[in-house]
Amino acid sequence: MRTVTVVRPGLGPIVSGISEIVARESAPRDTAHAVADLLRDGLPGLDILTPEERAGSSDGYVSHVLHAQEDFSVVAVVWRPGQFTVIHDHVAWCTFGILSGIENETLYRDMGDHLVEIGRAANRPGEVSGFAPPGDIHMVRNTSQEVGVSLHVYGADVSRLGSSVRRVYALPVR
Ligand SMILES: [Fe+2]
Repeated sequence: MRTVTVVRPGLGPIVSGISEIVARESAPRDTAHAVADLLRDGLPGLDILTPEERAGSSDGYVSHVLHAQEDFSVVAVVWRPGQFTVIHDHVAWCTFGILSGIENETLYRDMGDHLVEIGRAANRPGEVSGFAPPGDIHMVRNTSQEVGVSLHVYGADVSRLGSSVRRVYALPVR
């Protein structure tokens, strides 16, 4: 079997920086914010992905796990124009930075039998945000006319869990 190792420019310093932050064992929200400060100082370029990965897929947005260990994962998400997630929340804290495109995020509150919209945010290239559950029910859509790429750091091993999603919400929005 032939093993192909993809070189990820700029990933090494990010992984060691996050490792140092996670080792402090701070509260999840503080960890997410500290990782956001780190990413703001040195967001990698689009060359962290191969040209094929950067092209995205007509089937929907694509996640590329670039690094995973027991306590955190680094994932690049590629969205063609108009592609979106289902409404979901997360198993752990998350920090994300936008490399290209515009990620429009809609936030919801769970009312039991329905959801209400509680906010919207347009995240543009260079912008970084961090959050932690609870209160992290959202859906995300690339509303720009170009392929969107964002880097996500999750406080969990998504290669083991399969995804960062805790629950998908099929409830009506009122
Ligand atoms: Fe999410």
